Order: sequence, then structure tokens, then C-alpha cells
Amino acid sequence: MKITIVGTGYVGLVTGACFSDAGHEVMCVDNNEKKIEMLLKGEMPIYEPGLDEIVERNVKAGRLKFSTSIAEGTKFAKVIFIAVGTPPGVGGEANLTYVEQVGREVAENMTDYHLLVEKSTVPAKTSEHLKRTMRKYLKADVDFDVASNPEFLREGTAIVDATHPDRIVVGVESARAGDLLEEIYKPILAAGGGQFLRMNVTSAELTKHASNSFLALKISYINAVARICEMAGADVEQVAKGMGLDPRIGPRFLHAGVGYGGSCFPKDVDAFVRLSDAVGYDFKLLKEVQQINKSQREFVMQKIKRELWVVQDKKIAIFGLAFKPETDDVREAPSLYFVPALQEMKAKVVAWDPIAEGKFREALPDVPLETSQDLYECATGADLVLVLTEWDAVKNIDLAKLKSVMTTPVMIDGRNAFDPATVRAAGFTYHSVGRA
Ligand SMILES: NC(=O)c1ccc[n+]([C@@H]2O[C@H](COP(=O)([O-])OP(=O)(O)OC[C@H]3O[C@@H](n4cnc5c(N)ncnc54)[C@H](O)[C@@H]3O)[C@@H](O)[C@H]2O)c1
Repeated sequence: MKITIVGTGYVGLVTGACFSDAGHEVMCVDNNEKKIEMLLKGEMPIYEPGLDEIVERNVKAGRLKFSTSIAEGTKFAKVIFIAVGTPPGVGGEANLTYVEQVGREVAENMTDYHLLVEKSTVPAKTSEHLKRTMRKYLKADVDFDVASNPEFLREGTAIVDATHPDRIVVGVESARAGDLLEEIYKPILAAGGGQFLRMNVTSAELTKHASNSFLALKISYINAVARICEMAGADVEQVAKGMGLDPRIGPRFLHAGVGYGGSCFPKDVDAFVRLSDAVGYDFKLLKEVQQINKSQREFVMQKIKRELWVVQDKKIAIFGLAFKPETDDVREAPSLYFVPALQEMKAKVVAWDPIAEGKFREALPDVPLETSQDLYECATGADLVLVLTEWDAVKNIDLAKLKSVMTTPVMIDGRNAFDPATVRAAGFTYHSVGRA
């Protein structure tokens, strides 16, 4: 089937690449000309393991095209996925400017039936606004549907997630829309498994926020438990293991640390809180989830201050800028908090990250940051190492060599990436989260 995807970022490009790999003809559209230029030259605008090969293979096969024109995309396919960003607005609610722009432009260019699919994470009832907007801008008397198909992929494992989904959630108002989406996902579900769930549009929209908020809640829960563990003399890793073996709880998202970040959890939890407020429910539980997450960074900062006593003029080596391993995404990453805050205290900060440096500089262009491509060089002369991303290179570091290059061997592990006994045996003063 022919498919257009508007918004060629982490979600749009992965979805487009995987749809084309499943045999569909796909056009990925983005209004960022630089991004499309790069893709037309065979360069990847984002880092996602395995994505470059799939893109190359399908471009060569003529199944994957790129464009900067929504008009062209509207002509190309009758099914159009919206995968543009929905960043937080001033009050924390989702900013739907880009979604609205796409709806408007598609409507202006439609000459026959189209199905517009919300793949971006949007609040419940967005489809109602989209439909109203589209009706306003239609130039021809044509029929259309708006559906919801929230995306659950995770950066770093996006290809596996997109090709082996647990579930495909679609919210539709007509059998026609539901059947079109089912046909699109048929080859993916046949090859990768997973359930196809058809529901109404508002339920599908809400499923995404409810899922992400629940995962964020799990992280904040274990972080709160970690605080109690430290006070009570317990080890949160052991507690989490003991909890996670219960299938009703499960082991995932029970890793204590510096708190959740990334492009989805913080903004999706925020948007769900705003949505709940808007419909008249005070979602105090989620507000507390946010509060715990915020305080977790401050909690780790306190460990740094306690250890260094005077932060000024101390060299702090930061291991990891990305919000998690295997991605170059730094949106809401802890590094965006720690680097400026430590610099404010006049520490000398040097950071290492294998791929996220460029995105960090784009995110904080006014924050001058010294970086190093080598972990040991980064830590040379350092008074403290702060682990913010559990890259394999960090977890596999030679502790003896690391100690030998540092001024004082102190490690604050914001990801519980190391075994405390091993690091202490190597001669480090070591602090992690929730391991007394
Ligand atoms: N990144 C994730 O892990 C993830 C996972 C699930 C859901 N989501 C959701 O998917 C959506 C997209 O996220 P992302 O991380 O891919 O964002 P992104 O910022 O990487 O990509 C969005 C793209 O949309 C483009 N765009 C914006 N306005 C446009 C317009 N009018 N016309 C054409 N292109 C336009 C931007 O240039 C950008 O390239 C968000 O709603 C996000 O919450 C993201």
C-alpha cells in the first residue's frame, strides 16, 4: 500500500523505514530541509541502531522516498501518518501546533478520500480538533477519516519494537479506516507477532498517555523505595529483584537511578496531568511521580556536594550525555540539568559520550562544554566521575586504569551501573542510588 509519513524524526523515520521494509511504498515528508537533504544523500539525521541499513535497502528498492512537501505527500498516498513533534507547551500541555499545521495542509491538498492517522502522542480528543480544522481548510468536497495509532517504540531498540510490536493500538470511527490500518500492519504482525487492537479514537489516544505515565510511575516508585533503602540500610537492587520476580509486577522499569528523562516520559506525564486537570480529575498520584523524579536529580547532586564539600574548581568527569544508551537523544536528559548546574558552581566539567555530543550542543548552545572522545582522557585529573548514561563502554571500563588517571578516585553512579563491592575493591569511594 502507499503510505505518507509527515515528520521524519525518531518515530517517523523508523516507522517509514519499517513500513517500506514490510513491502509498502512510503514517502517520508519533513519541513526540515536539512534533514531531507541528508536523507537524500544517504546520511542519517539521527542515530538508531540498524536504521541506516533498512533505509538504504528500501531507498535502493524504490520503496522509500523523501520529500519536503506535504502537497506531494498528500498526492502520493491516501493514508497519511502524522509523526511530528508534540513538545510541551508553556503550561506543560502538549503543543499541537505542528499537528494542526499538518492537518491544515493535508486538507488544503486533498482531492479524494484520505485517512489521517495520529502517530504523534496527542491528548485525548485531538482527533476532534483535527477533524474540525480539516473541514475548515478543505478545498474540495471529499470524505476523510481521522484515526489514532499511538507509537510505543523505544529509542535504541526502535527497529525491533517497530517490527516485533507487543500490540498495535488503533482508534477508528469507521470500518474503512480500521481495515486500511489492519492491511498496513498485516505483514508486520505476520512476521513479528503482536496483537491488533481496534478501539474508539479517544481510548487509543488515552492508551498512550496511560501507558507512558504508568512506566514513569514504576520508575518513580522504585526511586522512592531507593531513598527508603538508603535510610533503612537496604539494597534497592535486591529489593527490585525480589519484587520483579512476581509476574504481577515484572522486573522492568524497576531500576533506581537519577530519574527518567527522554523525549517522552516527562512530557507525556505532564500532558496527562494537564489533560486530567482539564477534564476535572486531580491526578495527584502522577503529580507526585513528577515530584519524585525532579527530586531524584537533586538527591544525586547532594551526593556530589557532600563528597566534594567545595565544588568550585573541582574537575568532574561526566560519563554519558544521552538520556539512555544507544541513542543520541538528549531531550530531558539528566546531563541537561547536571552540566549547567555544576558549571554554575564553578566546577570544571568534562564530558564523554560516544554519539550525543552534537545533540547536547544543539540543546544548550550557550553552555560551553569541554568533551573528550576517550573515557580515560575525560577522567584524567578528575576529582569525581559522575555516571549519567550506562553505555557499555562505561560499564566495561578498566577501573584500575580509571583510578590511576584520576586525582581522587570518587564515583557517583547515577545509574547503578556498577557493582558497589567491585568498585570499592578497586579503591574508589563509590556512591550509587539506594544501595546503603
Ligand atoms: N521518540 C520516541 O521515542 C517516541 C516514542 C513514541 C512516541 N513518540 C511521539 O512521536 C512524536 C514524534 O516524536 P519524535 O521523537 O519522532 O520527534 P522528532 O522531533 O524527532 O521528529 C519530529 C519531526 O517532525 C518534523 N515536523 C515538525 N513540523 C512539521 C511540519 N509541519 N511538516 C513536516 N514536518 C514537520 C520536524 O522537523 C521533525 O523532524 C511525538 O509526539 C512523540 O511524543 C516519540
